[in-house]
Amino acid sequence: MRTMIRYGGLAILIAALVVLALLPFASSFVDDWAQRDVELRSQLVFAAAREQIEEMRAQGDAAALDALFGRIAADGRIAAIGLCEGGALTLATGGMPERFSCEAAPADEAAGPSPIALDGQAALVTAHALEANGVGAARLVILHDLAYIEERAGQARMALVLALVAVGFGGAAIASVLSIFILARWRHSVRQAIEDVREGRTEEQGPSDTQIAEEIKGALGELELARRQIDTVHTVWNPETLQVALANELPGSEVIVVSNREPYIHNRKDDGTIQVQRPASGLVSALEPVTRACGGTWIAHGSGSADRDSVDADDRVGVPPAKPTYTLRRLWLTDEEQDGYYYGFANEGLWPLCHIAFVRPIFRESDWRFYRSVNEKFAEAVVAEAKRPDPIVLIQDYHLALAPRMIRDRLPNATIITFWHIPWPNSETFGICPWKEEIIDGLLGSSILGFHTQFHCNNFIETVDRFMESRIDRESDSISLAGHETFVRPYPISIDWPPAALEGQAPVPETRTTVRERLGLSPDIKLGVGIERFDYTKGILDRMRGVDAFLTEYPDWKGRFCFAQVAAPTRAKLASYRNLQAEAEALADEINARHGADGWEPIKLLARHHEPDEVFELFRAADLCIVSSLHDGMNLVAKEFVASRDDEQGVLVLSAFAGASRELSEALIVNPYDAYAMGQVIHRALAMDSGEQRERMKVMREQVEAKNVYRWAGQMLLDAARLRKKERIMRLIDAKERRTDRKGERPTDRRRKPAA
Ligand code: F6P
Repeated sequence: MRTMIRYGGLAILIAALVVLALLPFASSFVDDWAQRDVELRSQLVFAAAREQIEEMRAQGDAAALDALFGRIAADGRIAAIGLCEGGALTLATGGMPERFSCEAAPADEAAGPSPIALDGQAALVTAHALEANGVGAARLVILHDLAYIEERAGQARMALVLALVAVGFGGAAIASVLSIFILARWRHSVRQAIEDVREGRTEEQGPSDTQIAEEIKGALGELELARRQIDTVHTVWNPETLQVALANELPGSEVIVVSNREPYIHNRKDDGTIQVQRPASGLVSALEPVTRACGGTWIAHGSGSADRDSVDADDRVGVPPAKPTYTLRRLWLTDEEQDGYYYGFANEGLWPLCHIAFVRPIFRESDWRFYRSVNEKFAEAVVAEAKRPDPIVLIQDYHLALAPRMIRDRLPNATIITFWHIPWPNSETFGICPWKEEIIDGLLGSSILGFHTQFHCNNFIETVDRFMESRIDRESDSISLAGHETFVRPYPISIDWPPAALEGQAPVPETRTTVRERLGLSPDIKLGVGIERFDYTKGILDRMRGVDAFLTEYPDWKGRFCFAQVAAPTRAKLASYRNLQAEAEALADEINARHGADGWEPIKLLARHHEPDEVFELFRAADLCIVSSLHDGMNLVAKEFVASRDDEQGVLVLSAFAGASRELSEALIVNPYDAYAMGQVIHRALAMDSGEQRERMKVMREQVEAKNVYRWAGQMLLDAARLRKKERIMRLIDAKERRTDRKGERPTDRRRKPAA
């Protein structure tokens, strides 16, 4: 403000000087104007009265002349009017001064007005020559009252002064504003200069432009190297190479895995002892070996009956129990929370929504509220567990769609990789979810969002395109929402290689015998297996119908083939799951009744949880394995069957609607909705000779070995590392641009973004 007053005052002073300097010119301008005004009026009067005057003179009508002069002099601006004849004033109106002499008047109109001082009063006199008309030459003299001219000139001067003052003030105001702006810029430049000097002084701590440029060059080089390493060096993926990749590409980073399902469940048995269970979960099968290799913390819902008794004061327990390599941090949910979040929104809403298996999704407002609050709980646990501001957070599955955004809000520098283990439907289907925008927004808090297949990535991007205001870059498959960019990538999930469950397995011939004995089957019977959770998406009823169709079509296989269906009860609180189990049992009974004879039954339904080594034993004893999912993100059972067959025997019958069918094309691919076709495929599998089985199995094993779960995790982590490096480059470039801005140079384009 003080500056404004100071600069305003100065401007006024300048304006006043300008006014003073201009005043003389203004006065002379007014005087000129007054003279021209007198001349003009004089001419008008003469032009108007000339004829009458000359006529009256010619007639010698002095009285008429006198009357006419009187009327003319009635104009206040004319002091007097007279007639000079022969150099003498012969007629004049009353206002003519007595001492007026015709000699003082100009000779004629061309001589212009003459000033005249009469009785101390300034006046102007003009004269106009009249025709002699036989009565002698004469002049009409007009005496102009300069008092009014003085008054008008004064007014004009005043107006001019006021105008100049106004211009002065206006100028002053503009000058003040300009000066303040200039001063601010100047101060900024001075400050900047001081800062630059300071920076120059501490250059060894802060990078210079050259150093930044060097660093950018270096980081880009590293990035290129990393890309080449991923493509060449990391062709063999195992726990060691994953550890090396992590140490090289993300040194010192902290890994936090987040999922609903925990990798180890402590349950209290009837005798009071505690049993550790490995859940029947593809997610756990995939993530557990990876987390074991990477170390870190896994946050999950503690759902076991003895889970609380197995943790320390901070709800943590080291796992695997035999040789801990990472920390399981358990999170507790009330029954109400579990009902709303897990059974309700996740499994009655999102699960059927994403799996197109013709089970109608149920959306309840109360479930949604629990889903949101439990996601908050998980997000808070991540923040509590994070030891650094930039952990790598691996969020798993559809239970935690909102957590990425919630974590991003709390830990903006975290690298959040979310993996969606189930399919993503087309946008039209997803559109029925009442909270679609919130779910999408939650997921877009991730740095990277992974699906099993490119197809599901495309579905997700289309869904975002349809329902959200965002920027989609289809070249790099990235989505920007509110300034944050998420890369959408396919990462086909897989299993441990060689699988831990293979350890300690008996040779295949021995296993065949053991299992057949256990199931009460004759030693030479052909065995088909199906192993999964009792879930309606798995097509359990459909494969039973396939067995039915097979035996109907090929009755000579009766008594020579058995199909063992292992189904772990799951989500049994939900009617859709309970009904499925009841339906499966009824269907098995029906088919067994139709085809069974002499103690032989074609279908054995084993509705209980099997630990991984039991599952592998069954796989190794089987001649064929049926995976007939109606819709599945990947399906790891298919890959586990292949991994279990180190004898390179056995046939995989695989649904065309499981993601695994994209990778395991040497399986017999089938449409589970077509029971007859399924029956034909079972027949083809049973008839396949050992050579063909070996050929097919070999190729599939190579595929699963090369594209194992360490590769799955490795690719995500290396993408995260690349992203981190790109973010570092962006920060360096931003720092450089800020410097450039400060120096007044033109900044470079800020809209570019890193491509993962
Ligand atoms: O497919 C999604 C998934 O999380 C699988 O990874 C896993 O097999 C299954 O769901 C587990 O379900 P739940 O944790 O409800 O038993």
